[in-house]
Amino acid sequence: ESKKRDALYRMHKDAARFFYKKRCAHDRSNEYLRSRGIDDDTARQFAIGYAGSEYTGLYDYLKSKGYKNEDLADSGLVLPDRNGKGYHDRFRDRIMFPIVSVAKNVTGFGGRLMGKSDKLPKYLNSSETMIFHKGTQLYGLNLAKTNLENGRLIAVEGYMDVISLFQSGIRNVVASLGTALTEGQGRLMKRYVEEVVLCYDGDGAGIRATVRGIQVLEGLGLRVKVMKLKNNMDPDDFVRQEGKEAFQELANNALSTVDFRIGLLEETVDLRRNDEKIQFVTEATKILKEIKNPIEQEMQIQRFASRMQIEPGVIFKEIKNDDPKAI
Ligand code: CTP
Ligand code: MN
Ligand code: MN
Ligand code: MN
Ligand code: MN
Repeated sequence: ESKKRDALYRMHKDAARFFYKKRCAHDRSNEYLRSRGIDDDTARQFAIGYAGSEYTGLYDYLKSKGYKNEDLADSGLVLPDRNGKGYHDRFRDRIMFPIVSVAKNVTGFGGRLMGKSDKLPKYLNSSETMIFHKGTQLYGLNLAKTNLENGRLIAVEGYMDVISLFQSGIRNVVASLGTALTEGQGRLMKRYVEEVVLCYDGDGAGIRATVRGIQVLEGLGLRVKVMKLKNNMDPDDFVRQEGKEAFQELANNALSTVDFRIGLLEETVDLRRNDEKIQFVTEATKILKEIKNPIEQEMQIQRFASRMQIEPGVIFKEIKNDDPKAI
């Protein structure tokens, strides 16, 4: 068991070095990274690599280093051929992002196509293996953990978001590897910080992931703030277009989760219509009711009521009325 883990760790480190060397010598990869604004230092910092287009480039290399088929098959880095006789590489012709654990082991990879394809997914990630569990890893945590400004982490969706922010000087950033944020990832964050700023893509999927992320993280007792990016931008787009200072200002003015959730509700209603306004205030009251700190709750209710031009007493009363009667 532990011998196998060891072999898989060594194999992944060798694979990362193999991909890295390929990338350094591969013009198309370097041009691609340049076109995305990634400089050489950053590419080195994240050990960004390239998986060639040969069928068995990595397989042959790892065999030559003495790894056994049995361990190679369990690594997820190679796949059995359809005829069952040999193996071929899982990642082909992709920019490779090694996923590094806090213990500095390479546990898996994300690979991105440089062009567009109808058939192939833009990103391909390692499959679950003995050493790679998507739900308990955070991309970039190995670097972020020594750069925890104000004891908080910024959580983003993607590899390029972490890398681009890091290059701009914002280094307390992690990505959840494309999955919705899991409880395991939340617990990992909780080992390092008390506050998480969610900064997901400004599209519908990003907003849904934010709503879910709030539930998961607040459920674990973490403080959560939300950054909303306009015009379907993601953090990488934003920091490249608007710069580091603009990003930091947005981070410093991140919304409370209550404001974020009430804001989402508000987008779905027309407040000039009485029935919709009543419905909105009723739903918003349920959110305000969840605020645990009584002083914060009082302040938020005052603020909301004055914005809605209603008596705060109505909301206070509604919150009390809603208490369960049986207990
Ligand atoms: N992702 C994935 N598989 C896909 C698409 C996305 O695993 N087919 C994951 C990747 O980790 C990706 C993240 O989800 O980084 C966010 O997806 P998306 O916003 O579509 O990609 P970006 O990170 O913005 O990638 P890029 O800027 O390179 O287009
Ligand atoms: Mn395990
Ligand atoms: Mn996205
Ligand atoms: Mn992007
Ligand atoms: Mn994105």
